[in-house]
Amino acid sequence: MRDFLTSNIDKIAKKVYNKLYIGLLVPKLGKRGVDVLKNTENTAAYARVRAYCEGYLEKNGHRPLAYVYSFGCQQNVSDGEKLKGQLSLAGFEFTDDTEQAQLIIYNTCAVRENAENTVYGAVGDLKHLKEQKPDLIIGICGCMAQLKHVAEKVKASYRQVDLVFGTFAYNELFEMLCTVIYDKKRVFELSERTTEISEDFVQIRDSKIKAFVPIMYGCNNFCTYCIVPYVRGRERSRKPEAVIAEVRKLIGEGYKEITLLGQNVNSYSYGFPQLLREIDKIEGDYWVRFMSSHPKDATNELIDTIIDSKHICKSLHLPVQAGSDRVLKAMNRRYTTEDYLKITDYARQRCPGFSFSTDIIVGFPGESKEEFEQTKAIIKRVGYDNIYSFVYSKRSGTPAANMPDDTDDKTKGLRLRELLLEQRENIERLFSRFLGKEIKVLVEAKGRQKSLAGRNTEGIIVEFDGDESLIGQFVDVKITSTANWALFGEYIKKGEIK
Ligand code: 5AD
Ligand code: SF4
Repeated sequence: MRDFLTSNIDKIAKKVYNKLYIGLLVPKLGKRGVDVLKNTENTAAYARVRAYCEGYLEKNGHRPLAYVYSFGCQQNVSDGEKLKGQLSLAGFEFTDDTEQAQLIIYNTCAVRENAENTVYGAVGDLKHLKEQKPDLIIGICGCMAQLKHVAEKVKASYRQVDLVFGTFAYNELFEMLCTVIYDKKRVFELSERTTEISEDFVQIRDSKIKAFVPIMYGCNNFCTYCIVPYVRGRERSRKPEAVIAEVRKLIGEGYKEITLLGQNVNSYSYGFPQLLREIDKIEGDYWVRFMSSHPKDATNELIDTIIDSKHICKSLHLPVQAGSDRVLKAMNRRYTTEDYLKITDYARQRCPGFSFSTDIIVGFPGESKEEFEQTKAIIKRVGYDNIYSFVYSKRSGTPAANMPDDTDDKTKGLRLRELLLEQRENIERLFSRFLGKEIKVLVEAKGRQKSLAGRNTEGIIVEFDGDESLIGQFVDVKITSTANWALFGEYIKKGEIK
């Protein structure tokens, strides 16, 4: 039996649908909104969710609030921004407080086990909220939600969760919400599709200064430790026209930093250096970053394109993962340390200050003490401005999960600490290259030790004292001291990317 609100909502749905149909709402939604309405099926579900929001407003005096939280990488943050865009289009508003929310969505990460455990913890904490407010809608989506065993666990043990959907189902959000709202059924949508990339998404971006722009989805590399290819499917590239149009629009709106995203941007089907060169031609005051680059596909052409450009930051995130050729082979990385160093040496020979950052996995199955020392040696040799290091986390279903591993967790933890200490020493030497120099900084927020904080082209945090009105602008700063996490300096003047 449908309750009063639901049947009322159906009436409102019809009204809203008709309004949409005759195009009254279309001008308000703008071009992208119109795109969303192209698909009739999609339109009906959209109108019904919109009607739910209108009904909620009528009954409660305010729109339903959604809480959307993204764990993990920037790709996930970008997916979360699209979810928010869809929800706002349908009439939701947003809150940072789960207690106030009518819809809670955790957009999850599956790369390491602790990320999964955090989600179970967070969802577990929502049980009492659901008991107090039975019409609260709770959803889990993203990489972790794509895994069958997770869906089964949630189905059986987390009854408060209404909606579980994987990384292929974002553009069916309205249909899924309708099933939960109107049919009062739980939804588990994990099917993998190879449909074309939808360009119809509206986005609510978390920042007004920095924007993420995915250029491709999925991964074909199957590194033996990694779950990503299993949860995000095969590589699909967006058309260059779509990417360039989005970047141009963002720059026009005043965004100062665009980060192009892909699991391996170097295998972008339409040519990554070409894409960078086209983007670089766009007039304006902005920086471009991108991540990640797989070393097996990083070329001198890529390095040349970065160095010869006006807007592309002179830094490259190039995950090395390990410093031992045996371990790299077992990881299926398909490069040797020698291949890797050819890239970094070429960049440094052309541009001595060229910056590298990297990802490292410590304690891969079978990693010996000596092999770990080789990882320490490569980080010293390259000199990274930033390192993201992780203890290996066993992901069931990946080949590495079945590899013999005789190193205990405590030893792995100690190795990670040792690596961080090594990097701390390296950083002192590396950061001293900025002392006394005037550098360009994009001001992002208030600082921890000085009034303002931003990042330089190398992606290093720079703090200095200045007026808050500088947030969102490029400035020139003279570096006077360093710490192991940041550079400190004095404000000189406003800067431009010319
Ligand atoms: N365990 C630990 N770290 C991992 N990464 C990917 N899979 C795992 C895993 N199973 C790290 C890699 C990758 C980064 C995004 O996460 O270093 O580059
Ligand atoms: Fe995972 Fe390797 Fe693909 Fe990166 S390149 S997402 S580490 S499989």
